Amino acid sequence: MITASRLLTLNASLAVLALAVPARAADRPWMNVKLSPDERAALLEKEMTLDERIGLVHGPMSMPIFGIRKPDGAIGSAGYIPGVPRLGVPAVNESDASLGVTNPLGVRPGDGATALASGLSLAATFNTKLAYEGGAVVGREARAKGFNVQLAGGVNLARDPRNGRNFEYLGEDPWLAGNMAAAQISGIQAQRVVSTIKHFSLNGQETNRHFANSVIDEAAHRESDLLAFQIAIEKGQPGAVMCAYNLVNGDYSCGNNHLLNAVLKRDWGYKGWVMSDWGAVHATDYILRGLDQQSGEQLDAKVWFGEPLKTAVEKGEVPAARLSDATRRILRSMFAAGLFDKPVTPGGAIDYDANAEVARAAAAEGIVLLKNRSGLLPLAKTAKTIAVIGGHADAGVLSGGGSSQVVPPGGAKRVVPLGGEGMMGAFRSQYFNGSSPLAAIRKAAPGAKVTFDDGRYVASAVAAAKAADVVIVFGNQWMGEGEDAYDLSLPNGQDALIAAVVAANPNAVVVLQTGGPVSMPWLTDAGAVVEAWYAGVKGGEAIADVLFGAINPSGRLPITFPASIDQYPRAQLPGLGAPEKTRFDVVYSEGADIGYRRFAASGQKPLFPFGYGLSYTSFAYGNLKVTGGETLTVSFDVTNTGQRTGKDAPQVYLTGAPGKATQRLIGFDKVELQPGETRKVTLTADARLLGRFDVKTNRWVLDKGAYQVGVGAAADNLALKGSADLRARTLKP
Ligand code: BGC
Repeated sequence: MITASRLLTLNASLAVLALAVPARAADRPWMNVKLSPDERAALLEKEMTLDERIGLVHGPMSMPIFGIRKPDGAIGSAGYIPGVPRLGVPAVNESDASLGVTNPLGVRPGDGATALASGLSLAATFNTKLAYEGGAVVGREARAKGFNVQLAGGVNLARDPRNGRNFEYLGEDPWLAGNMAAAQISGIQAQRVVSTIKHFSLNGQETNRHFANSVIDEAAHRESDLLAFQIAIEKGQPGAVMCAYNLVNGDYSCGNNHLLNAVLKRDWGYKGWVMSDWGAVHATDYILRGLDQQSGEQLDAKVWFGEPLKTAVEKGEVPAARLSDATRRILRSMFAAGLFDKPVTPGGAIDYDANAEVARAAAAEGIVLLKNRSGLLPLAKTAKTIAVIGGHADAGVLSGGGSSQVVPPGGAKRVVPLGGEGMMGAFRSQYFNGSSPLAAIRKAAPGAKVTFDDGRYVASAVAAAKAADVVIVFGNQWMGEGEDAYDLSLPNGQDALIAAVVAANPNAVVVLQTGGPVSMPWLTDAGAVVEAWYAGVKGGEAIADVLFGAINPSGRLPITFPASIDQYPRAQLPGLGAPEKTRFDVVYSEGADIGYRRFAASGQKPLFPFGYGLSYTSFAYGNLKVTGGETLTVSFDVTNTGQRTGKDAPQVYLTGAPGKATQRLIGFDKVELQPGETRKVTLTADARLLGRFDVKTNRWVLDKGAYQVGVGAAADNLALKGSADLRARTLKP
């Protein structure tokens, strides 16, 4: 029953509401959905005061770290930008990242989220549909938790197999990574949540990342890391670009006029906003160099885009028009993503079970079968005893550390702290998520006796291996933001453990959970090897699905596994052990020849090449047709020549352009085929992949002449070869 006093309160609240919401829509013409995001942003920005504009271009972290309190009004995660209630501008709540919605340092007590498999796992699927679906999971959960900006879209190319954040990214190839990132971003933004793309550009290592100056030739940069960003931005239309911690050719990337103003905004016509990484702004004039928003401002020496920017605008040192432009860019992306028309509200329902199934399917498809001696896999369900060894397989699967770390609903099953100092110290723990491979193996082999040995003592593990028909031994490599792997070994002496186990039993399957390539000194003795990466919320089940054949593996390496780090141009990690706060150069002398391209150019043989991965069936290619003209169109048949249904990821490489040999992925597909089935695949190359970037004319150039292509199952395994002529042409940058 409504009492008189409640009625009064109700009336009072209605009165407040009436004040907040203007009586007529005409008072807020920017809410007219028929106008373009640019028109709406311009109308709204015009109404803003200087303070309101300044308020939008900077914001604090929203996690409790270094004694910092979560800002009032923030939901709590990575960052926060207060809204402008007077004009109906919603507050921006930002959360990391590509692998799920994070909850840094438990700022939202008990709030878990669906943990997707790592970025490398996703890239290994060679399946953009899965990237879209994973993005949609992240977007849906972000929205339901009240986040309207997701700091996703990590697309830095893997130039060094030791890079501590390779696991977040999408491998070493611009076409693969660019397309995967685009699909992931589209999936997120389809849920009406802005996605970023990051870290722009050449954040190629974590070691002393704030002082690393990435040095690269301009043409090579355009043809590699920048091309990955360009493709992902064109196809995915992310609302924001996050610049990086490092310097690029002498200027900090968040104050890099060339990168932000010339490449991104002028050449590519990017209309969204550039936000800084957290603690990557060093001066107010970065706004003149293309930065639009200072994020995580407590980590910078000053709130440069706060009072100092206001004063600079008042004094005319920063044109008011530039501040208006930055403000409009932010508003424009907010309109484009739907933040005004379909605002997020915390407390939405989340179907974690359904989302976990999306994660499981992608994780299983990302698993790469590297070796399979005499059909050891899939495991015969008749094996009487199976010894599972190491890797905390009794608890769950591993995940990578740092800002992208997702904790699943219900919390982690096991947390193994690694300790450590510095900014990332608090993030240095190995999280195992509760999707136990051991439990999943037991479920898949109900008739077998499945034992578990934690792998701490080699002799005990060897005894367990000897007593079993089949051994499944895990090798884990935790990687995390803020640090690189020291080398390519499995840490904590696991290589010695695995070597002893595979020597003790020929039916030993090694399951790797790594953040990137490792060296596998025990490979010859191992019966089978699968790379499971960080496999996410249902990782244990995904691993068992592949081991027992419920899923026919179809992952392909998105990154070369070298035989040794000496095969890379920087055998010593640049900046390792450099005195604190000293700048140093990371010279990317390989230019655009990253990973497999450099292996092809130098003739070196890797441990496993880019694009490689086995299946429980076999595929053959035939009927190649290559047509030229403006660009190359390549068609060919793929046939499943084996006994099982399976998926193949056929790859098309450019192997020669007029006057030079080369090696470059120009197309890929993912096809599922029944035994005996043939499918015709047709791919048309993005012409930029066929040409070179000419710095003088600032255009892509394709020379007239014959272009060679190869089609096959990996960068070094091209069954079909053909060629066609192209006309000379140039393309806009
Ligand atoms: C990372 C970003 C992340 C940000 C906010 C930084 O340390 O480099 O990728 O989005 O933190 O958490």
